[in-house]
Amino acid sequence: MKKHNFSAGPCILAESVLKQASAAVLNFNNDNLSLIEISHRSQSFIDVMEKAIRLVKELLEVPEGYSVLFLQGGASMEFLMVPLNLMKVDGKAAYTNTGAWAKKAIAEAKSLGEVVVVGDSSDTNYNYIPKGYEIPSDVDYFHCTSNNTMYGTQMKEFPSVPTLMVCDMSSDIFSRKVDVSKFDIIYAGAQKNMGPAGTTLVIVKNMVLGNNGRDIPTMLDYNTHISKNSMFNTPPVFPIYVSMLTLQWLKDLGGMDAIEKINQVKAELLYSEIDRNPLFEGTAAKEDRSNMNVCFLLTDSSKEEVFNSMWNEAGIRGIKGHRSVGGYRASIYNAMPLESIQVLVGIMQQLEQN
Ligand SMILES: Cc1ncc(COP(=O)(O)O)c(C=O)c1O
Repeated sequence: MKKHNFSAGPCILAESVLKQASAAVLNFNNDNLSLIEISHRSQSFIDVMEKAIRLVKELLEVPEGYSVLFLQGGASMEFLMVPLNLMKVDGKAAYTNTGAWAKKAIAEAKSLGEVVVVGDSSDTNYNYIPKGYEIPSDVDYFHCTSNNTMYGTQMKEFPSVPTLMVCDMSSDIFSRKVDVSKFDIIYAGAQKNMGPAGTTLVIVKNMVLGNNGRDIPTMLDYNTHISKNSMFNTPPVFPIYVSMLTLQWLKDLGGMDAIEKINQVKAELLYSEIDRNPLFEGTAAKEDRSNMNVCFLLTDSSKEEVFNSMWNEAGIRGIKGHRSVGGYRASIYNAMPLESIQVLVGIMQQLEQN
């Protein structure tokens, strides 16, 4: 029996994608060569890269004037690349502090200039999304995290800002519609809704680059990668290929409209059980609940052992909460089938009846 994989990342991918990806490792395009042993300069791989970029543009309706990049170094590298490319020498940027990843982004920006934290939910261990903050107009950019993977909070709206807007969408990219034109840089590690770890998607508005007067190291300069179509050095061919397959799977499913509705149904099913069942409580503020990472606690800790063995026996994996929050975290990314959530909900109901 295939396990019900609720892991926060790396995480579940569609089974059809995994099958195609494993076949391509043995024999890509019926050429009797492996995808991972052919040149990234071969037409076969150039076609993969071009298709991946085309699918990102199509699915997210990326406007003209933006570049789509597949980079390396994870979203963590973007924590540094963003300030290097946008922050002026002696510059200043505004950040929201909504969790451990946001804090890491802030730390990198602080190594290059001043950071103004405009919204901060650290007072309650990041269980809500700060709102109603003022963003100074003299900052070089504003940075936010759309979905806080560890705490299960998600921005439902993005502020109107008097400066450039940058967003870390690592854990909810391609899970819902976004208006890309509101953003100047969007970045996301692949390993949630897109593919295996090893590549980072960056969507960047070309005109915001090259204006900050910094001498940017070659590999950390977005313009290097734009000018070489993400092939300045050897790209991570396997993660890009699997990302392309996932994006095609998403398109075949009906694109962002369809997946947004599916994700809503899945999240509602689980949150409504958490709210109904007296043995459970959600940890995130209701209006900020994430549709990707559902964090909850047992109200009666004496039930922990039996609950853990019940879900374990049912083949559920990866629902232990992050150590900084405790309890449970069910990550229900795009490829998570409704049936797996039904299994978890069934176990929560059985626990109540025990
Ligand atoms: C919101 C968010 N940002 C950044 C990261 C870091 O990503 P990476 O491991 O690709 O550097 C993660 C990883 O889980 C994340 O969830």
